[in-house]
Amino acid sequence: MQGAGIADRDATQEQTSEQDDRALAAVFKAYTISATCWLLFGTAVGLLLAFKFGAPDFWAEKYLTFGRLRPIHTNSVFYGFASIGLVGTAFYVTARSCGTRLYSTRLAWLGLWLFNIAALTGTIALDLGYNWGDLEYREWPWPIRLVLLAALLVTVWNLLATIARRASHDIYLSNWYIIGGFLWTCVICLVAILPWYQQGLGQVAISGYFMHNAVGMWFTPLALGLFYYAIPKVLNRPIYSYALGVLAFWTNLVFYPMLGGHHFLFSPLPWWLQTTAIICSVGMLVPVLGGSANFLLTMRGRYHGRIESYPLAFLFIGVLCYLVGSTQGTVEALRSLQAVWHFTSFTVGHSHLTMYGFVSFAVWGAIYALLPLATGKNPGRLGVATHFWLALVGMSIYVIALSIGGTLQGLDWVRGVPFIQSVAEMAPYYLWRGVGGILMFLSHLVFAWNVWRMTAGKPGNAPSPIMEPEGAAA
Ligand code: HEM
Ligand code: HEM
Repeated sequence: MQGAGIADRDATQEQTSEQDDRALAAVFKAYTISATCWLLFGTAVGLLLAFKFGAPDFWAEKYLTFGRLRPIHTNSVFYGFASIGLVGTAFYVTARSCGTRLYSTRLAWLGLWLFNIAALTGTIALDLGYNWGDLEYREWPWPIRLVLLAALLVTVWNLLATIARRASHDIYLSNWYIIGGFLWTCVICLVAILPWYQQGLGQVAISGYFMHNAVGMWFTPLALGLFYYAIPKVLNRPIYSYALGVLAFWTNLVFYPMLGGHHFLFSPLPWWLQTTAIICSVGMLVPVLGGSANFLLTMRGRYHGRIESYPLAFLFIGVLCYLVGSTQGTVEALRSLQAVWHFTSFTVGHSHLTMYGFVSFAVWGAIYALLPLATGKNPGRLGVATHFWLALVGMSIYVIALSIGGTLQGLDWVRGVPFIQSVAEMAPYYLWRGVGGILMFLSHLVFAWNVWRMTAGKPGNAPSPIMEPEGAAA
């Protein structure tokens, strides 16, 4: 079944005034610039962390210790870069696909302030040593997490009210994913704060629930929502199957919330809960394969064009990493393989294949595809190509090095060799991770330059992100 095309929906755009378009562009620009600053900061910290594996005494002053910097890296790339980048793009996608203006630009600005206040105070708190310890991805003290929750509530209110003003009768698929992501995440963030869930074994279950739902019910639906808008938009053709998108949406909702227990296999959590998590991890193959097939089939026949269109190349890598990373996750969740990979650097490879290869590439692809349409300014062609190749090669080195190293590390532990041997064996893999990290970080500097050209600076010479329609291309 062919769904309605993005182009049809955008035909309703004339209902918005020039002033509305300028206000939307200003919001999109501000979120993108803010996300870029957090990307530079968060990954500079990530790079420093990567080198601390080889030189643990380097910059070991108390504010720069590994224990303080690691959660600063993860939280700033999660809530500073990826979240703010996705939310800015979501505003644009929702308003455009609904053919209306943003319900409230004031609320959008307020949301941006709240996200930034949370990320900034969270970073300061972590560096001062105020850390909620073992609660991964929610190490910020709870009052700061309340500010994050406020940012989410303000934003979802604004998005829902925008959708309510839509020009068309139906709600485009992207908005299902975006609103779904927001509503689920508000619940998840609330559960993660309620004190009676933060004790004993229950806390462990909630930890798994929060950890994987942060990636599965926040970043994943938002990034998929962007794919459903940006891929057809760039290709100038409708999505392959609307029905497949709906199926992937609901199966994602059925399987994702229950799979967090796979982080705690062989733990004192009830065995049935662990088994349920494994079954749901396998069930995730349905939305992952369905969603990826939908995107790849939408691109069918246009693969020759993907290198000429760098926005599409970013989106294509995002889809591939979603497919490969999630399938890897399913395999990783099986007990026999968790026995080898749990606690090893293999998991860190998986995190970067998904959060970097899937989510970050989706954010970049959507920004390169949509920001020039909002601001009327293209980046430079060389700049976008340099960002793409540095990020892709850097990430590949990072993920391959840790996947091999992490497997050897796990096998060493299974064989029961002296622990220090597994540490020594990792040295070259950590070095390669550092090399990959340098390329990734350089790519982010180039991205910042490209953002500058798409917003405040002199526009560049990259072609329009929208490809010629098929007939014209032939
Ligand atoms: C220059 C780029 C980057 C470098 C060098 C880098 C480096 C690192 C390092 C060294 C760690 C600690 C690993 C450990 O404890 O063994 C880490 C963890 C992590 N990073 Fe990055 N990172 C980068 C970019 C990113 C980005 C852009 C994201 C997300 C959008 C991200 C998400 C994460 C996550 C989720 C973890 C925790 C992994 C786990 O516990 O499995 N990183 N990173
Ligand atoms: C849908 C299929 C997926 C499954 C079944 C899956 C499964 C897993 C498993 C088994 C682990 C290792 C747990 C451990 O050893 O402690 C893991 C870790 C992780 N996954 Fe996935 N994954 C999937 C998709 C994703 C996606 C799409 C993302 C990002 C958007 C992601 C991000 C992460 C992160 C950040 C970690 C590290 C968590 C930590 O800090 O321990 N995963 N995943």
